Amino acid sequence: MSRPLLESRDLRKTYRLGRIDVPVLKGCSMHVDRGEFLAVLGSSGSGKSTLMHVLGGLDRPDRDGGEVLHDGQPLAGRSERHLNRYRARTIGFVFQFYHLLPELTVLENAMLPGLVPGGVGSGPARRRATMLLDRFGLSHRLNHRPRELSGGERQRTAIARAMANDPEVLLADEPTGNLDEHTGGEILELLSEAHRDGLTIVMVTHDHLIADRADRAIHLVDGVLDTATPAGALA
Ligand SMILES: Nc1ncnc2c1ncn2[C@@H]1O[C@H](COP(=O)(O)OP(=O)(O)OP(=O)(O)O)[C@@H](O)[C@H]1O
Ligand SMILES: [Mg+2]
Repeated sequence: MSRPLLESRDLRKTYRLGRIDVPVLKGCSMHVDRGEFLAVLGSSGSGKSTLMHVLGGLDRPDRDGGEVLHDGQPLAGRSERHLNRYRARTIGFVFQFYHLLPELTVLENAMLPGLVPGGVGSGPARRRATMLLDRFGLSHRLNHRPRELSGGERQRTAIARAMANDPEVLLADEPTGNLDEHTGGEILELLSEAHRDGLTIVMVTHDHLIADRADRAIHLVDGVLDTATPAGALA
């Protein structure tokens, strides 16, 4: 068997609220294979976003709190330059609440990851963002601000942004969570198409019907993976 693209081993993450420790991930081991579409299910507060942030290198596990491996190599110990490159080129992140910058246009938002350290650079990012926005039906919106867009259009812009550096894996945190059923369906279709084109996707969702569209679903319960629930029972 080939190495997983991403893997977490016994991941532990504790937030500190004032003087109280709040353990969120309590030994979470999972993996995603290259080319896979993995759904992550779990109730609110079970640690799904935390897991995505740690997998994406946006946050770190606790000291001695397990590890994240990319292509079999641990993230811990990589230099800041390598971590920047990992965040920029390996991972594309889709946030639940879009997180578009209001003062930038649609095109500027979508090409932004090209400009961060480790990104592909302004020219390639502009070309790729323009191509993606066109593919997502937003070519007439390139110079609009996010506030002039519908929720579905904002999420499509956010997905174009996540793909601007041509990442290996898209980490999508409830990409349909704030959209009506029809618009959510369109977003899901767009992600499925990117997956058919070869993109690896990890998608958080509350919706078992949406998880059904994935190759495989895992269930996070109180900071660990629920191995007692067979995959079929999730649907
Ligand atoms: N930055 C933080 N500081 C302190 N506590 C946090 C922080 N981020 C998350 N938490 C807590 O960690 C727990 C898990 O949060 P997380 O956002 O990972 O859950 P989730 O499964 O994504 O939930 P939801 O489905 O509501 O998005 C929650 O109890 C939350 O309050
Ligand atoms: Mg969340």
